[in-house]
This record gives sequence, structure tokens and C-alpha cells, in this order.
Amino acid sequence: MKKYRIGILGATGIVGQRFVSLLGSHPHFEIVSLTASKKSAGRKYSEIVDWYMRNDIPENVRETIIVNNTDKEISRENLDIVFSALPSKLAYDIEIDLAKEGIAVFSNTNAHRMDIDVPILIPEINANHLQLVGKQKFGTGFIVTNSNCSTSGLVFGLRPLQKFNIREVYVTTYQSISGAGKKGVASMDILGNVIPFISGEEEKMELETKKILGTFDGEQIQDADFDINASCARVPVLEGHLESIVVNFNEDVSLEEINQSFKSFNGLDTNTFPTAPMNPIILTLEDDRPQPTRDLLTEKNLGMAITIGRVRRKGTSVNFFLLVHNTLRGAAGASILNAEYALQEGFLK
Ligand SMILES: NC(=O)c1ccc[n+]([C@@H]2O[C@H](COP(=O)([O-])OP(=O)(O)OC[C@H]3O[C@@H](n4cnc5c(N)ncnc54)[C@H](OP(=O)(O)O)[C@@H]3O)[C@@H](O)[C@H]2O)c1
Repeated sequence: MKKYRIGILGATGIVGQRFVSLLGSHPHFEIVSLTASKKSAGRKYSEIVDWYMRNDIPENVRETIIVNNTDKEISRENLDIVFSALPSKLAYDIEIDLAKEGIAVFSNTNAHRMDIDVPILIPEINANHLQLVGKQKFGTGFIVTNSNCSTSGLVFGLRPLQKFNIREVYVTTYQSISGAGKKGVASMDILGNVIPFISGEEEKMELETKKILGTFDGEQIQDADFDINASCARVPVLEGHLESIVVNFNEDVSLEEINQSFKSFNGLDTNTFPTAPMNPIILTLEDDRPQPTRDLLTEKNLGMAITIGRVRRKGTSVNFFLLVHNTLRGAAGASILNAEYALQEGFLK
């Protein structure tokens, strides 16, 4: 099978490093190009990257020379696919330019997430939204995004419950510092502290969730019609976003029905989609879980599954906690799964 030529934009950042570590030995994708800012350009990847991942830098990219993000050099690398982990403002034009050159752009940034013809794709949840790229005007290239990191957890908590006629959702997040990128949050601000503000995060959660859980009618996406009210906080945790969720329904739903809906939520075929988890939702029944240090990366969960726990029913409401890995399911892993899905659906040339 053909190996697709891959570029990773922003390869020295937290999400970029996650891409590099996941794509070091991928069956369909081969890293050809790595980009970063002007200060890193022209240097060997292993010399300039401040490597945060637990596994080693893949051998095949250690010597790769970094290309400047804004350089026309990116287009000279004859790439099939780019994974974008750039700061959003910078990404806006670059992603359009690359799509116009016929490249399939899988983006982590929020630059184009809310564009009317760009899907926020999560194959287990809204696979048919990928058809929206047919509305884009880039020729053979296109842009597909994945959601903001906290949204990527929330939608897995809500999708199995949508059949019960949701009226409104309240979500409060406890988000890790790696979600703020490699510069993160100053230690003086976060150590022993909680910061009840993450710029733009609440708006992103509210808008993206309604789009992801909306219906594609063949022309455009009709947003899901329930209200979402988000409050986001940064906590002194390295990785993993915990979320407390309250869902109010228009009808009575039993605790058994809710738990069963979480348990029976279907995954993709892991033979076809190497990055997909067998079970996208892991339901824990223990009193004090999920916890970032215990449930984020386990034998059963390599970071692409969401852990849900402490499910409680009160009248026509249900409360639960949910844990998502912000750089795997919330970023690089999600984007790679989207590319695997686009490949399988015949969208990659
Ligand atoms: N962190 C998460 O959990 C997460 C989750 C979902 C989505 N995202 C999104 O993913 C994107 C990347 O996030 P991140 O956390 O990986 O950020 P990051 O750690 O700060 O990395 C940013 C990357 O962009 C490059 N860069 C920064 N400023 C630049 C400039 N002015 N010109 C050219 N290149 C520049 C950096 O290169 P140098 O090393 O050379 O500076 C680095 O490679 C953002 O859009 C973010 O919102 C992040």
C-alpha cells in the first residue's frame, strides 16, 4: 500500500511532538517534513526540540532539518497530507494556501473549525460530516479539523445520550497545563492554585459541541438544538482534562439506560483504523474515579478512549465526570484518526 507523504506543522510544540511520536512508525503515513518557527528553522529536529514525550524521538526524524512554518519550502516538499499544530492566527492563511495546493490538511487549530464548509470530524460520532469537504473550493485539497481538547471529551459524554432528548448541558472543566502549549502557564500562577479562566475556551466548547453533534443535511450542518453552558478552569495537572457534566433531559431516563448507553457505544474497527480505540468510552463504577494520574493512560486505554465515572441520576438530570487525554484524543491522535478515516473513505488521492 502507498505511504502518504506527511508534513507536521508546529512539530516542536506539545501537539507537534505528539504527532511525531505517533507517526514515527505508522502503516500508511510517513513523516517527510517538520516545521517550526524561524528560530528553529535550519536546525536538526533532535537538536532543537525540547522533547516532552515518554518514548524516544523516532530515529527516522532525528536528523530531519526543520523548515520555517511560513516558508514556501513547505510546498516544495511534495506532501500529500499536513497535520497542523500551529498557533491559530498563524494557521489561518497557511492552511488555506496548502489546501489550495492540493494537500489534505488535518488541523488542530481553531482557525477554520467554525467555517461553514469545514467539518469538525470525530469518526465515531459524526462520520458523515466528512462529506462537507465536497463543499470546499480548494480543488483536490481540503481542510478537516478536530475539536478543541475539552470539547473532544464532552461530545463523547453527550453522543450516547442524545437519543434521550437533551434540554440543556452544564459542563465545568479542570484542565491540565499541557493544554496551554509548551510555554504553558507560569509556575508562579499555577502551582498550588486553580485559575478559573481559559481565554476563549468556554465559547469554543459551546459552539463546537453543537456543530459536532449537529446533523449534516447534505448541504450544511444543522446545530444540535440544546443549550450548553461551560465554565473552564486551569488546574496544576500535567496532562488530562477532567470535566464535570450535568445533562438535563426533556424526559425521564433511568440510570440503567444511561449506563447502558455509555457501555454499548460502538468503536471503529481497529484493524482498519490503527489509531482508533476498541472502546471509545470506558465506564468506571468506582466511587473516586476517573482521575488523571490513574485513568489517563492505562493498559486498557492508550489515550484515545474517554473515561466516564460517578454517573448519578437526579430526577430528569444526570451528573457525571469524564476524563480526556488532551494531546491524544484531544489533539494529535484525533487528527491522525481523521486522516485514517479520510483514507478509508477514498478522500486521499
Ligand atoms: N496543547 C493541547 O492540548 C492542544 C489541544 C488541542 C488543540 N491545540 C491547538 O494546537 C495548536 C498547537 O498547540 P501546542 O499546545 O502544541 O502549542 P505550542 O506547544 O506552543 O507549539 C507551537 C508550535 O508553533 C510554532 N510557532 C509558535 N509561534 C510561531 C510563529 N510566530 N511563527 C512560526 N511558528 C511558530 C512553535 O515553533 P518553535 O518551537 O520554533 O517556537 C511550535 O512548533 C494550537 O492551535 C492549539 O490551540 C492544542
